[in-house]
Amino acid sequence: MNHHRKPIIAANWKMFKTVPEARETAVQLKVLLDGGPALHSREVVVCPPFTALAAVKEALSGSGIQLGGQNLHWEDEGAFTGEISAGMLLDCGCRYVLLGHSERRQFFFETDEAVSRKLRAVLSTPLIPVLCVGESLAQREGGRMEAVIEAQLAGALAGVEASRLDRLVVAYEPVWAIGTGKTATPAIADQVHGMIREWLARRCSADMAAAVRILYGGSVKPANAGELMARENIDGALVGGASLDADSFARIVEFK
Ligand code: PGA
Repeated sequence: MNHHRKPIIAANWKMFKTVPEARETAVQLKVLLDGGPALHSREVVVCPPFTALAAVKEALSGSGIQLGGQNLHWEDEGAFTGEISAGMLLDCGCRYVLLGHSERRQFFFETDEAVSRKLRAVLSTPLIPVLCVGESLAQREGGRMEAVIEAQLAGALAGVEASRLDRLVVAYEPVWAIGTGKTATPAIADQVHGMIREWLARRCSADMAAAVRILYGGSVKPANAGELMARENIDGALVGGASLDADSFARIVEFK
């Protein structure tokens, strides 16, 4: 963490929680964080399933906790059964949206080209994109970590002018650390974040790279959040499993 960059702690609820469950967790979170210092110094985001966006928005109203979508389609509207547009997310009160999460890439065959279209769609709205990148275990063991991440960044940012990327947030999520209980060590994560920041400095500008928030994701828990956030290049967390419980997520938000 660097004091010039406000940390973002984001909950990714994935395909969990019914509407009543989502509402209950959001209410608990609001109570736990209300009046505490964390909400002044950090941005807190909850990304529920689409079906719970309205209920969570209502439950979080007045709390300062922001809402995010987990995915979107690049078109504004049209015959795209099952898809949701940036405008629809804004309509539901979202301020953030996740892009290119590894589960989207792995199970729904999202390519860098699709992620790039989504990024361009998001940048034409006030939504803040959280671009997820990360290598698999086989790619890391094969010495291809850097090449894979650079290709994901280059692919997603293809054709986007550097001046439009001042809102970009990046999430580094090594696939081998997601839901596995294996967290990248703070040193490993910090090294990759540094590499991403250098790549952005070359692709965009030194100023953009110095300001961009790079979140870490992959088995973040209350017990390891503080040591991860203590690293210079780690500007927050994208939390899956440990965000489903309000108490555990609130403890991550309040990392010391
Ligand atoms: P995890 O998931 O915290 O359960 O490892 C992180 C993510 O996929 O965003």
